[in-house]
Amino acid sequence: MLRHALLALSGSHRARDMIMATPVTRDVVARFVAGPTAPDALAVTERLLADGRFVTIDFLGEDTTDPDQAAAVADEYVQLLGLLAAAGLAGQGRAEVSIKPTAVGLGLADHGDKTAQENIARIATAARNAGTTVTLDMEDHTRAEATLRLVGELRADFPDLGCVIQSYLRRSADDCRDLAVAGSRVRLCKGAYQAPDGVGLTNRAEVDLSYARCMRILLDGPGYPMLATHDPRLIKIAAVKADAVGRAPDSFEYQMLYGIRPAEQTRLAASGARMRVYLPYGSDWYGYLVRRLAERPANLAFFLRAVSSQR
Ligand code: FDA
Repeated sequence: MLRHALLALSGSHRARDMIMATPVTRDVVARFVAGPTAPDALAVTERLLADGRFVTIDFLGEDTTDPDQAAAVADEYVQLLGLLAAAGLAGQGRAEVSIKPTAVGLGLADHGDKTAQENIARIATAARNAGTTVTLDMEDHTRAEATLRLVGELRADFPDLGCVIQSYLRRSADDCRDLAVAGSRVRLCKGAYQAPDGVGLTNRAEVDLSYARCMRILLDGPGYPMLATHDPRLIKIAAVKADAVGRAPDSFEYQMLYGIRPAEQTRLAASGARMRVYLPYGSDWYGYLVRRLAERPANLAFFLRAVSSQR
C-alpha cells in the first residue's frame, strides 16, 4: 500500500518540487547519490575501485521531453567517460555507465526511438574508446518493448551493450531465454516500478520466484549475467547455482546500489566474486530517491526523521 503510494508520488510534479526544495533532503540524498557533479562521481568511483568493487555510473535524470536536453545528457556521459579514462578508472570495464533510455530521448513525441538510438550510440562509442561498456537501464513496463528493440539494434555495432530484465514482469523468463546467448550482458533485477496485473506480478513472493527462475536461465546460458539484488536469499541461491554449473568468478557478477548493504558488497568482493556498485550522480535525484524510499519503510523513516529534525 505504502509502496504503491510512494511510487505514484515519484511521478508527481508537485511533490517533486516540494521535496526537492527541502534543504534536509541533502543528507538523505548523500546516502544514495555520489554528489551533483561528475568529479563527485569520480571521487567515489576511485574509492570503490580501491576497495575491490567495480562501478556502473548513472547520470540522474529521466523522461526527457526536449531533444536538446537529451543531447545534453549524452554530452555529459561522453565527458564523464573521458574523465574516467583520463583518471585510469575505466579500463577492463571496471567503471562503466548505466543510461536510462528516456533520459536520452526514448520518450520524445517525435522520433524518440531514433534520437535515443543515436545518443546511446554516441555514448557507447565513447565507452569503447575508454575501454569500457554501457548498460541500458529498464524503466516502467510501457518502455520494455522499445528498450529491448533498441538493445537488439544497437548490439549490431556494440555487442557488449548491457540490458536489464525485471523479474516482476510476466514476460521476464521469455526475455531471459532470448537474451541468454554468448557475450550477452544481462542485468537481472526485481524491478522498481509497478505494472497492471496482466503485465506484472504484484505478489513479492512471486517476484522472488520469478527472479530465481530467470537467474537459473541466465546462469545456465553462455552469456554474462549481472545479478542485481540485495536479497540475501537470492544471493545465496546464485552462489550455489553458479558453483553447480561451474561458472568462473569472472563469468558473472553481483550488483548492488550505492549506499545499500555496503558491508555485504565488501564481503562479496573480498570473497573473490565480482561485485559492481550502481552509483548515481547529478542533481535530478527525485525519482531515484523516491524509488529507494518505496523499497524499504526504514528508509522512509530515516527521511522523515531528517525532515523533522530540521524543524
Ligand atoms: P528487496 O527489495 O526484496 O530487498 C531485499 C533486501 O535488500 C531488503 O530486505 C533489505 O535488506 C535490502 N534492501 C533492498 N532495497 C533497499 C533499500 N532501498 N534500502 C535499504 N535496504 C534495501 N530496477 C529497475 O526497475 N530497472 C533497473 O534498470 C534497475 N537497475 C538496478 C541496478 C542495480 C545494480 C540494482 C541493485 C538494482 C536496480 N534496480 C533496477 C532496482 C531493483 O529493481 C530493486 O528495486 C531493488 O534492487 C530492490 O530489490 P532487491 O532485489 O534488493 O530486493
